[in-house]
Amino acid sequence: MYIFEQIGPLEEYLNSCREDDLSIALVPTMGGLHDGHLKLIDKAKECSDLVVVSAFVNPTQFSESEDFEAYPKTLSEDKKLLKVAKVDAMFTPSDNEIYPEGSSQDYDVGEIGKILCGISRPMHFNGVSQVVARLFDIVKPDYAVFGEKDYQQLLIINSLAERQGIKTTIVSIPTVRESDGLAMSTRNNYLSSEDRANAPLFYQQLEATKEAILSGADISRAIEQAKDALNVIFDVEYIEVLNANNLTQITTSSSEIIIISAVRLGETRLIDNIVFRRLDV
Ligand code: PAF
Repeated sequence: MYIFEQIGPLEEYLNSCREDDLSIALVPTMGGLHDGHLKLIDKAKECSDLVVVSAFVNPTQFSESEDFEAYPKTLSEDKKLLKVAKVDAMFTPSDNEIYPEGSSQDYDVGEIGKILCGISRPMHFNGVSQVVARLFDIVKPDYAVFGEKDYQQLLIINSLAERQGIKTTIVSIPTVRESDGLAMSTRNNYLSSEDRANAPLFYQQLEATKEAILSGADISRAIEQAKDALNVIFDVEYIEVLNANNLTQITTSSSEIIIISAVRLGETRLIDNIVFRRLDV
């Protein structure tokens, strides 16, 4: 596996691959790799001849009060994991390499960035869009693979690619879960053993809410019940039932539905969602 810290040599390598007609898939990550990332890599391999994984803890998507300093930095473990996974190239740039002219706040992500996670993390999606646009510009991938756990992020990246006329095809994979249902996340490492034991109740409650809605329960009532049940263990930041295509309010004709939520468990923020189809629509 090639490891690049600088853009120049990475670009040279990618240009020579393109001359050989090889297609390129990018898996953007912030390191702290786990099995969920390996599934993104599997998908990337299905799509293309060559897989590049970037590992960059992007400062612009963290607000000052967030966990940027504490975010797991596991570069040597990540390198080993990616070698075993037979990734072609790893890109581990410095802040200066990504933001040589400092960061910009110009990535207006529109209304979709102002709801759900955008309420408690107002600059987050601006920072995500900024780094993803920069990585796309450097790697110019044919494909880029993201997880559906970060559903709002996924829709924002789709619309960024569309707005900026980016030729990369955005591919997503379903949320990868631990055997007890907890969505895999680097931040799960923050959980105490007691919190880790309780964490699967988050997904279980989302499943129960989905079942209630499919059985004909009133949606507002189902959300209120879910909130009350979750608040016994977690601090609910939001839980909403929305149109899965655009995260707007559902109407009688919306068939693709998402239950999407963020909660806190101790110091750890967890997000999760379930997408399903309403049968009666
Ligand atoms: O989902 C993530 O890990 C990050 O938000 C991403 C897309 C790598 C951008 O830093």
